[in-house]
Amino acid sequence: MDKTGAAVIGCGTIFDQHARVLHDMEEAELLLVVDSEVTKARREAERYGCEAGSDYRAILERPDIEVVHLCTPHHLHAPMAEELLAAGKHVLTEKPIAHTPKAAESVRAAAARSSAQLGVVFQNRYNESSRRIREVIESGHLGRLLCLKGAVTWSRPPEYYTENDWRGRWATEGGGLLINQTIHTLDLLQWFAGGEIERIAGSVTTDTLGDYIEVEDTAHACIDFSNGVRALFYGTNAYLTNSPVELELIFEQGALLQRRDIVYLLQDGEETELCRPSQTATGAKSYWGVSHGLLIRDFYRHVREGRHFWLDAEEGGRALDLVHGIYSASRIATSIMPGGRGYSS
Ligand SMILES: NC(=O)c1ccc[n+]([C@@H]2O[C@H](COP(=O)([O-])OP(=O)(O)OC[C@H]3O[C@@H](n4cnc5c(N)ncnc54)[C@H](O)[C@@H]3O)[C@@H](O)[C@H]2O)c1
Repeated sequence: MDKTGAAVIGCGTIFDQHARVLHDMEEAELLLVVDSEVTKARREAERYGCEAGSDYRAILERPDIEVVHLCTPHHLHAPMAEELLAAGKHVLTEKPIAHTPKAAESVRAAAARSSAQLGVVFQNRYNESSRRIREVIESGHLGRLLCLKGAVTWSRPPEYYTENDWRGRWATEGGGLLINQTIHTLDLLQWFAGGEIERIAGSVTTDTLGDYIEVEDTAHACIDFSNGVRALFYGTNAYLTNSPVELELIFEQGALLQRRDIVYLLQDGEETELCRPSQTATGAKSYWGVSHGLLIRDFYRHVREGRHFWLDAEEGGRALDLVHGIYSASRIATSIMPGGRGYSS
């Protein structure tokens, strides 16, 4: 089988989730790993049997590299994606698409101009539970979706920020809890709700990490969609453990609850299990989910068959629009609340 040549830029925390999948894929070959800290790149190149580099621009001169994975800090996603797309490289970028709405707009434009594809990693859309929930919504079996809510209560200790200087800063992370951790749940809420965002109320605060970060660690929002669906959201990095994300969807004739990745159906006063994922992640990183492999393989399938990948710059940018909608709403909310410690630009 002819293999699609791949490179990964950024050999940090998420790197392995990409490299391991590429290593196991018959149709792809990891040729190069790049990190500005070349010792990291060399270490991973040795583990995966490929070349190491410290300057991603070397990829532009490599016709054998067709797909590039971006596992770099948020503020580097847009400039790297734009340059690679202009050179005809397919780009699979980790979330968020960019660190600001303006940068996201440039990525959208670069993707539209390019002959290559851009995909955004929102792997939780590939979770069995998420797929099952979408099926129920689309089937109409429970009637119309009325409202939904999502709660994310996770823990990020000060060291998470102090060990990596790009985190916790507006200029490099582009925000805090919302743009980095809860963007996955916000993405699912808007994907399930299905309409355009019409109104957002909400606020962000820094409840426990104020001595370490300039961004938020806690947020809430009330989001109204054009189809009448309302979503409520609460998220924090100030919990002392990473609890499984909780979701609830209320329909005209029943409800769905997601707890510990298991989806329960509530109908006529009875609760039944609708979906128990066959694979569940374990260990400290279990809150990332198990679906990186599914998304990466799907992206390559589309690239190899010349089909358009669905989680593209438009679709993958929606969650960032929502994140920034909450930041804007918070600016308004906190400016009328004396003593509010919310977002300031
Ligand atoms: N999908 C998920 O569930 C998930 C989980 C964790 C992280 N992420 C995302 O992955 C991305 C990376 O996050 P991380 O936690 O791995 O960060 P990290 O800081 O652990 O790793 C980033 C790596 O990029 C390297 N780097 C920085 N500048 C570079 C440059 N100019 N050229 C090449 N390499 C450079 C750094 O040296 C570092 O090794 C972020 O977008 C983050 O939001 C996604």
